[in-house]
Amino acid sequence: MKKFTSVKDVADVNALLKKALAIKAAPLADQQYGKDKTLGLLFFNPSLRTRLSSQKAAMNLGMNVMVMNLNGDGWSIELADGTVMNQGTQEHIKEAAGVISQYCDIIGIRTFASLTDKEEDYQETILNKFIAHATVPVISLESATLHPLQSFADVITIAEHKKKDTPKVVLTWAPHPRALPQAVANSFVEWMKEADVELVITHPKGYELSAQFTEGVTITNNQDEAFKDADFIYAKNWSSFEDYGATQSGLNDWTVTKEKMALTNNGKFMHCLPVRRNVVVSDEVIDSDNSLVLEQANNRTFSAQTVLLEMLKSMGDEK
Ligand code: CP
Repeated sequence: MKKFTSVKDVADVNALLKKALAIKAAPLADQQYGKDKTLGLLFFNPSLRTRLSSQKAAMNLGMNVMVMNLNGDGWSIELADGTVMNQGTQEHIKEAAGVISQYCDIIGIRTFASLTDKEEDYQETILNKFIAHATVPVISLESATLHPLQSFADVITIAEHKKKDTPKVVLTWAPHPRALPQAVANSFVEWMKEADVELVITHPKGYELSAQFTEGVTITNNQDEAFKDADFIYAKNWSSFEDYGATQSGLNDWTVTKEKMALTNNGKFMHCLPVRRNVVVSDEVIDSDNSLVLEQANNRTFSAQTVLLEMLKSMGDEK
């Protein structure tokens, strides 16, 4: 595996899932692969789970880890080619990616949507320019439009908790006080389409995701109808794709509550975290025995470890 930016970089999701479950059962069994190898983790925005679970995954594999907050601690990065750099940016992404590739065997990078320039976000400009100029494998730690390590962890969590071969999984929009990217939702849909689930998306009118992800998926604007007989409820806020980055007010009745969960098939509650309690989901739902949010976060270690191990093994093949 040379890069991990989307489910499209995975040949067989079920095979990767089996590997993740084996790694979770014996997380320190593959330390020989990471010995004397270095993982670099670069962040353009804050993180708790991605930062720590990726470090934990690398340490489980015997790797060294270097972490850098590019926004706060690095030089301001120039992305455009041919720019006369006499303004605010100090270092071109060509040099940055090239230099970091000399220090690291694998690089993880987290970028974030601008929510102002749809074309630039959906072209994944920062991530793709970094990959173009890096000389080592690159892992997305969340990009402008996708969050593959989160989605892979969600696939693991659903596989561990499903009680039927094809569970009903509902992705529901939920309220939030700020405009958020579509990345987690896009990515969840992309991965669920490759998993053995019946996927339903529910959101208020105006929050349609890009058709490139939702084509072929059942979508309803009736949240109660969607929740009926669901085995898993995955809550997430996202801003409008069409009216890019826009939000609407007055949708507080989309919060996931105990009453709504009562419509499900004793459904499990999922969220990628961090979550706004009593905005996205009520305390009684997230604190209930049916909440999987901590298990999802735990599985972030094993999704990252599985991807790192695939990359380390590919390097071995090249020797
Ligand atoms: N779910 C997730 O990516 O969490 P962080 O933003 O804390 O990394």
